[in-house]
Amino acid sequence: MASVIITGGATGIGAASVRKFASDGFDVAVLDVNGEAGEALVAEAFSGSVRFFETDVRIRSAVDASVDRAVAEFGTPDILFANAGIQKLASIFEMRDEDVDAIIDINLKGVLYTVAAVAPHMREAGQGNIVLMASDQALVGKQGSIVYGATKGAVAQLTKSLAVELGPLGVRVNAVCPATVKTPLTEKVFEWLADKNFGGDVDAAWAAEAESLLVGRVAEPWEIAEVVYFLSQPTSSFMTGALVPVDGGLTAQ
Ligand SMILES: NC(=O)c1ccc[n+]([C@@H]2O[C@H](COP(=O)([O-])OP(=O)(O)OC[C@H]3O[C@@H](n4cnc5c(N)ncnc54)[C@H](O)[C@@H]3O)[C@@H](O)[C@H]2O)c1
Repeated sequence: MASVIITGGATGIGAASVRKFASDGFDVAVLDVNGEAGEALVAEAFSGSVRFFETDVRIRSAVDASVDRAVAEFGTPDILFANAGIQKLASIFEMRDEDVDAIIDINLKGVLYTVAAVAPHMREAGQGNIVLMASDQALVGKQGSIVYGATKGAVAQLTKSLAVELGPLGVRVNAVCPATVKTPLTEKVFEWLADKNFGGDVDAAWAAEAESLLVGRVAEPWEIAEVVYFLSQPTSSFMTGALVPVDGGLTAQ
């Protein structure tokens, strides 16, 4: 059976993607720091197998070791979804050094380390599909999201450079650029936005976000997972180096 490696697969968009692939019979290796949520996913019933490998994507040797274990378990990965990421909002006047480092280490270096660990296996196989998690913030700016936006812009550029390097080896590389999705990550984002702009009213902050999108609502994780799945399949065979907005019309305005 074909296999997939998904980083940040324990919750949110990553978990929805694990469920999508595993329900379709893929064997899925989940690399994440959240052992509790990761093991809970493993316990769900799917037609494909799911294995959890506790991994901090900031640590290159840990990523290498987990990819080796995933390959030993499931064989050469056909698909990689490099999705792990964090968000910590702060204005340019408030940024803390440790937050700057964590965002860059996870959102940018983590993606790089993951691709670097998986790409040699795909090169050997002469085929593969890589989907990177960028963001609408690869395309637009948002309040308090300076460092996060910079990392997502960088992931968008990585997508293109990797597509150039890996294309001749039979490996496609694309990125999804979602607007706001209801996940544990955005719960904290909207608490911060509510404090800044809505006198602490979190519901008002979410309502304003929904109104800013042409579809009048934010996304559910599965709506992003469906696009990730499409980008990883032969039905998208003419796509590589693409940054795909999944954004309810945000960037159409
Ligand atoms: N939710 C949104 O609105 C939105 C929009 C665009 C892009 N994204 C991106 O989607 C990705 C998934 O985010 P989400 O919204 O599903 O949030 P989430 O917090 O549910 O998922 C992030 C996952 O990454 C894992 N993770 C965090 N640090 C890690 C580390 N050091 N090593 C390994 N795993 C780590 C978390 O445990 C979690 O499972 C992120 O890259 C995020 O930037 C989210």
